[in-house]
Amino acid sequence: MGFIIAVDGPAASGKGTIATRLGALYGYPVLDSGLLYRAVGVRLLAEGGDLGDVEAATRVARSLDPATLENPEVRTRQAGEAASRVAAYSPVRQALRDFQRAFAAREPGAVIDGRDIGTVIAPQAPAKLYVTATPEVRADRRWKQLTAQGEAVTYEDILADIRVRDERDSGRSDSPMVIAPDAALLDTTQMDIDRAFDAARRIVETARARWDHPEG
Ligand code: DC
Repeated sequence: MGFIIAVDGPAASGKGTIATRLGALYGYPVLDSGLLYRAVGVRLLAEGGDLGDVEAATRVARSLDPATLENPEVRTRQAGEAASRVAAYSPVRQALRDFQRAFAAREPGAVIDGRDIGTVIAPQAPAKLYVTATPEVRADRRWKQLTAQGEAVTYEDILADIRVRDERDSGRSDSPMVIAPDAALLDTTQMDIDRAFDAARRIVETARARWDHPEG
């Protein structure tokens, strides 16, 4: 098994940047699993489909072309909203599972960020982080990011989105927002990204030392 780093957490917690930097540090490929759900939502809408149609969403998820993850459209606010809707469907999650598990199995290691990486996709991952921050701080970060991309959105709208998504991502029986019992919790509310990354790196290095030299 390669050295899998699972980076979970809610929207705009900083997990994506942390995952990207960890990948660069170790030379591992990085998968932002949220992009898979975003790509499903975007394609469903582009086909004129309905986000409430589980079967259509599942069909799109089963035939998803990973090349579409590169499409800048998947990074919009609307894509995030659509992703959160289709991610609520078990058959959609199942359809995207094999791709994520195959990615996790890459040697010598891989970094995946998402909601359920440490619990469902790669429960065997030797390094697990759960990155979080208050909804207000996350909304502020997401607002800055979307504004920089040229989207005309208000902070209040983004905060409302984040609250709805937290609720939707955590309020169901197969909720992806469960913190793995062996995950290290990293609250980035009071941290800039450099400090957050530094804390993440230390957590991963501790896990790495344990993985390299398992006791007994
Ligand atoms: O992290 P993000 O904002 O790109 O995620 C978009 C949506 O996809 C989010 O509302 C929940 C869902 N998601 C999920 O259910 N499981 C994942 N592993 C990643 C994302």
